[in-house]
Amino acid sequence: LLDDYRGMKRGRLRVSVITTAKYFAPLALGKFCKKYPKIELGLKITNRENIYKRIDQNLDDLYILGQVPPTHLDLTSVPFAPNPLCIIAHKNHPLAGQKVTLKRLAKEPFLMREEGSGIRSAIEDLFAEQGLTVQERLSLESNEAVKHCVAGELGVACVSEHALNLSEPNMPIVKLDVEGFPILKQWNIVYPASKELSILAKEFLTFLTEKGQGYIDLQSN
Ligand code: PGA
Repeated sequence: LLDDYRGMKRGRLRVSVITTAKYFAPLALGKFCKKYPKIELGLKITNRENIYKRIDQNLDDLYILGQVPPTHLDLTSVPFAPNPLCIIAHKNHPLAGQKVTLKRLAKEPFLMREEGSGIRSAIEDLFAEQGLTVQERLSLESNEAVKHCVAGELGVACVSEHALNLSEPNMPIVKLDVEGFPILKQWNIVYPASKELSILAKEFLTFLTEKGQGYIDLQSN
């Protein structure tokens, strides 16, 4: 029991989250740390492929992924919050305000995330299903860079709706009404099925599932 007490008060909590959870994770962690101010924290924000590598190397206690992990990885996965992926364009783009087919969208220069990104593979899969190819204009390593390039009228892009909230409200970007969108993904809290979670990790998992939704706002856009 004494160990439990120490674990809660002074333990270490390491969390890795997918890029789109970076808008939410610091708020949730901040609140959690108000209760446990002395704990040692680790927070890594990275893309899907890197999170899988970190799981493989057992680097963190908990992970937030942008979609359900494949079953062969033997992970415990707690669906946690919606992670809708949408298409954005500059507000003066000719397709703004119209109903757009995927075939029509495929003609537009596309700003893609880097190799290893879950959003990138979601777009590649959707286009491939319809025999279409992405006209990739740029590959960018962050959702912020993607949004800024859309604002610079360099092309259209796919982002999580989480990346549109809590960020620059005055950016000249709009969501497009495209066939097949939003792609409805879920954030999942994930950890290896065989792993015994630390007391602190269990506590944070409970905190996220009970209170985490309060730090998410998908309504404002
Ligand atoms: P990504 O994932 O950063 O690997 O593109 C984002 C997400 O799935 O929400």
